[in-house]
Amino acid sequence: MARSKRSSSRQSGSPAGTSGASGESTLAKPRTSAPAELEFHNQLELTLSVNGRDQRVTVDARVTLLDLLRERLHLTGTKKGCNFGECGACTVHLDGRRVNACLVLAASADGHEVTTIEGLAAGDELSTVQRAFIDHDGFQCGFCTPGQVMSAVALIKEGHAGSDAEIREWMSGNLCRCSAYPQIVEAVKAAAAAGDAV
Ligand code: FES
Ligand code: FES
Repeated sequence: MARSKRSSSRQSGSPAGTSGASGESTLAKPRTSAPAELEFHNQLELTLSVNGRDQRVTVDARVTLLDLLRERLHLTGTKKGCNFGECGACTVHLDGRRVNACLVLAASADGHEVTTIEGLAAGDELSTVQRAFIDHDGFQCGFCTPGQVMSAVALIKEGHAGSDAEIREWMSGNLCRCSAYPQIVEAVKAAAAAGDAV
């Protein structure tokens, strides 16, 4: 049933521009300047460790960690899939914990340690998890793979590689459009069995 205008205005308060009980206008007066504590700083100076190297950057306050890594630090191994926290392609470690870098403001990483896919290998020598993904064909196009590998490293360290079901559950935030899921599980199992969660 359609609501009458009268009941609608009663629920939402006086319409804009009408007078209050005292007869004064209820229109908000325009704010001339923001209170000091609410002043917005566009540019932020950040210092963070990325793959063991200290980085000092000045970024717009709205920049995400993903864009900082890819666009400013040129670490393009971390992929931008959905840019919305849905696919896991942007997974990195922040102080050892996996995060979706598209959902983290770069400012949040100030003073913290970030590890990306570029930080796993020792020179030309791939890490155990990277090697396992190759040995078990854990990818096809490879777009999701950096995020899958970063999640796999974390879940092995977290102790969540006890069974196929557990691996699937704890890797469920990482989507693979090529559906390489069975091989990914095999790769994670093999890396976990090797006892070297990197
Ligand atoms: Fe971050 Fe998809 S790009 S979750
Ligand atoms: Fe293509 Fe996963 S290997 S999206």
